[in-house]
Amino acid sequence: MQKGSLENHLFRKGSVVQPLSWEMRLKIAIGAAKGLAFLHASEKQVIYRDFKASNILLDASYNAKLSDFGLAKLGPSASQSHITTRVMGTQGYAAPEYVATGHLYVKSDNYGFGVVLAEILTGLRAVDPLRPTGQQNLTDWIKPHLSERRKLRRIMDPRLEGKYPFKSAFRVAQLALKCLEPEQKNRPSMKEVVEALELVVAANEKPLERRTARDSPSVGHQQSHYRREHLTSFQPRQTVARAH
Ligand SMILES: Nc1ncnc2c1ncn2[C@@H]1O[C@H](COP(=O)(O)OP(=O)(O)OP(=O)(O)O)[C@@H](O)[C@H]1O
Ligand SMILES: [Mg+2]
Repeated sequence: MQKGSLENHLFRKGSVVQPLSWEMRLKIAIGAAKGLAFLHASEKQVIYRDFKASNILLDASYNAKLSDFGLAKLGPSASQSHITTRVMGTQGYAAPEYVATGHLYVKSDNYGFGVVLAEILTGLRAVDPLRPTGQQNLTDWIKPHLSERRKLRRIMDPRLEGKYPFKSAFRVAQLALKCLEPEQKNRPSMKEVVEALELVVAANEKPLERRTARDSPSVGHQQSHYRREHLTSFQPRQTVARAH
C-alpha cells in the first residue's frame, strides 16, 4: 500500500515519514474501526484476532485497510459467547481474557482497538522493553493517564506539537478506556466505536492553544526501534491453523 502502515507513521521517528496530524489519526482510526465493525457484522461473525498498528495499511489518501487475515476466525455460533482456541496474536494487543484462558470473543478485537487508540494518542508502542520498568506495557502504564485530563496532556504524542483539540483527545482517551475494559462485555461494539469517533470528528473542535513539545513535558517518548514480540514466536501459526 502506498503509504505503508500506521506503525510506520506513528513510530518511525527521524525518517522520511511525516508525523500524522490529529485529523489524519482520527481518519485512520475511523477507517480501521469500520473494518472491524464490518467483520463483526458479517453473517458469521469474523474475529480478526491480530489488530495492531502494523496491520493497518494506508492507501495514497490515508484510507485505512486491514491486512493479514491469517489469524482471523469465524465467531461463535448463536448459542455460544466465545470460541476456545490456542492463544495467538501479538503481545501488548491481545485481550486479557484471551491471553488468560484462550476464550476468544468478538470483543477481544475491541481491546486491540483500544490499544491502537492508545498508540495513536501517545505515539508509543504497545510494548517496548526499552522503556523503564513499569512502562513497558503501554496500556498497563497509561490507563490511569487516560482518565485524567492533566495526566493525558503529559502522555500525548509530542510529534503532534500540541496541534490538536484537547477536548477531542480526551474523548478519544475515554473511548480507548472503554475498549480496554477488562470485562469484554463492558467494551463498546465496534459499531458504537465508529459512531463515537465520527461524533468526535463532527464536533469539529478547534485547538484552543498551541503547546510545543517543550512547553508540555511528556513522558516515555524516548526513541526506540524495538519491534514487538509476537505471542506467535512461541507457537508457529501453521500448527494452530491445523489444530483448529
Ligand atoms: N501491502 C503492504 N503495503 C505496505 N506495507 C506493508 C504491506 N504489508 C505489510 N507491510 C508492512 O511491512 C511490515 C511487515 O509486515 P508483516 O505483516 O510481515 O509483519 P507485522 O505486521 O509486523 O506482523 P504480523 O506478521 O503479525 O502481521 C509492517 O510494517 C507492515 O505494516
Ligand atoms: Mg502484518
